[in-house]
Amino acid sequence: MRLSAKSKFIIIVGDPVSHSLSPAMHNAAYEKLAIDDQFVYLGANVKVANLKEVILAMRVMDNFYGLTCTIPHKVEVLKYLDWVDEKAKKIGAVNTVVKKNGLLCGYNTDWLGAVIPLEKVTSLKGKKVLVLGAGGAARAIVYGLKEKGALVYILNRTLEKAEKLAKEFKAKVLNFNHQKEVSNFDIIINATSVGMEPLVNQTPINPSFLKKNQIIFDVVYNPKETKLLKEAKKKGAKIIFGFEMLLYQGVAQFEIYTGKKAPIEVMRKVLLEKLKVKK
Ligand code: ATR
Repeated sequence: MRLSAKSKFIIIVGDPVSHSLSPAMHNAAYEKLAIDDQFVYLGANVKVANLKEVILAMRVMDNFYGLTCTIPHKVEVLKYLDWVDEKAKKIGAVNTVVKKNGLLCGYNTDWLGAVIPLEKVTSLKGKKVLVLGAGGAARAIVYGLKEKGALVYILNRTLEKAEKLAKEFKAKVLNFNHQKEVSNFDIIINATSVGMEPLVNQTPINPSFLKKNQIIFDVVYNPKETKLLKEAKKKGAKIIFGFEMLLYQGVAQFEIYTGKKAPIEVMRKVLLEKLKVKK
């Protein structure tokens, strides 16, 4: 144990939070870079009504250096911060808070979590992308795709929510009843919870419309290979696993917290090990 009274701590708050893989991922990275005497990353379950007390604690405790917000705190936290990055403001959610000269500064790295794994396999400029879902995850993804010049369509169970999101980010809507058009997209991203427990045997769209030349990215990371990804693989499509989003939002976050380049492979290994055990 290399920690001391000088070590800075970062806490992920959520409700629930016990399933979070972020502490394991970040602490392994601190160890790899031998900065585990300077930083430690913890988790705490916090009810949304108590978030303001956490912020107060962060203000008065000098070594309470970073806060990661997960569901349901990403939107709520905005009102307590001293400064919010323009991109996070546009997305309307903060997942990363860091203390700089005593000021609480908020960022969003979720959009990078979606964009980086895609850009490793293709350029997004001019690509026709279908986002399934219109909740919090979809918001960050749609923002990232638009930022990179993609042509974005949104399909959602509740049409009005798709319309609202599309209007805000100058995207288009695909009606659920026109699913055969799914075949015409270059990239399809699932940002719904379909495919996760208890919906592991469901897919958010009819997989018979998937095609060989497409890229299918599922934000659901547990199970690692969702039914949608299995079906896409059968068609010969390129698939991207959901843990890649978890990884790259964490990589961007690591760099904000430590100012150092993240040891990506160590972080990936931790996630894969944890997901294997969980399955
Ligand atoms: P998150 O922050 O993880 O995105 P959210 O904001 O609650 O969570 O959004 C969940 C998304 O998954 C929504 O787009 C939701 O569709 P509705 O807007 O119609 O509610 C979608 N979703 C959840 N369960 C679904 C299901 N069984 N079938 C289709 N879509 C579903």
